[in-house]
Amino acid sequence: MIERINRLIAEIESLKAVSLEEVEQLRLKYLSKKGLVPVLFDDFKGVPVEMKREVGQLLNDLKNRANNKIEALKSGFSQDAKASSANLDLSRPAANFQPGTRHPLAIVRTQIIDIFARIGFTVAEGPEIEDDWHNFSALNFTADHPARDMQDTFFIATNPDILLRTHTSSVQIRTMETTKPPIRMIFPGRVFRNEAISARAHCIFHQVEGLYIDRQVSFADLKQTLMYFAKEMFGENTKIRLRPSYFPFTEPSGEMDVSCNICGGEGCNICKYTGWVEILGCGMVDPNALENCGIDSQTYTGFAFGMGIERITMLKYQIRDLRLFFENDVRFLNQFRGAI
Ligand code: PHE
Repeated sequence: MIERINRLIAEIESLKAVSLEEVEQLRLKYLSKKGLVPVLFDDFKGVPVEMKREVGQLLNDLKNRANNKIEALKSGFSQDAKASSANLDLSRPAANFQPGTRHPLAIVRTQIIDIFARIGFTVAEGPEIEDDWHNFSALNFTADHPARDMQDTFFIATNPDILLRTHTSSVQIRTMETTKPPIRMIFPGRVFRNEAISARAHCIFHQVEGLYIDRQVSFADLKQTLMYFAKEMFGENTKIRLRPSYFPFTEPSGEMDVSCNICGGEGCNICKYTGWVEILGCGMVDPNALENCGIDSQTYTGFAFGMGIERITMLKYQIRDLRLFFENDVRFLNQFRGAI
């Protein structure tokens, strides 16, 4: 009996029809009163008691599949029938279709990549889940550096060696470990920091870091590269200034400000009436970081820089609250329709 049911199931599953009439014939053959399926139900009476449960379930399954199959075959034809019917109205307007827009962060990331591509920088990416070596140790962070503190870093479960990367400098390390200089690359990606969410900070944001390593790379090369970037990004009249700063993996280190593109340096509430806004950190790659990756610091020097994509986007489009980037409110996103 079970074998008969299974054979019938297989048979029904493979049914095909070329017209509605044929579907009707199939329905009669399988499902009408004297059809193959009801006939099997009649035979159910003769099934031994201990088999009734199993066979009963299988029979129900068979009936459902047969009904579904016939319905499916039928609906295939009724749609065809509608589409080909003579009263098809070809002048009817199409359904209102709203194409999506690119996210402002994606727009600006592409712009940054394009600007650096024009001077020979290629793109590399790395993992968001990192180990201590690539995120901290190889970058010359001492064991007690405050940035390793639980307050800034999201660690994975109980293993302090595994964490969500706090910057894309980890990809610089991965690149230097595996690539022989000259290296001229940028590293866009998502980073994570354990910060309270506000208009100016979020626990998830995006960075682009850059790295240039070769013989005789100097601070002047860094400055020129960043000035080129600032003018391409914010306009030909943009000015830059570098202030001394500190990062464990660069020496000397700096932070770069650009003249405020909202007030042109006159002073406004965006630049807090200073005429300048900070956009990135940078410096000459510390020899320790080079040596940690097996690059001879006597032969090679290099510069690195890192910027937050959110910050650049906020300046570029005068967006005052960083949380808007993550809410995906279409009223916000639609304003970037047509931007490239
Ligand atoms: N990694 C630094 C940060 O996240 C930025 C930086 C990159 C600074 C490269 C110097 C050089 O803040």
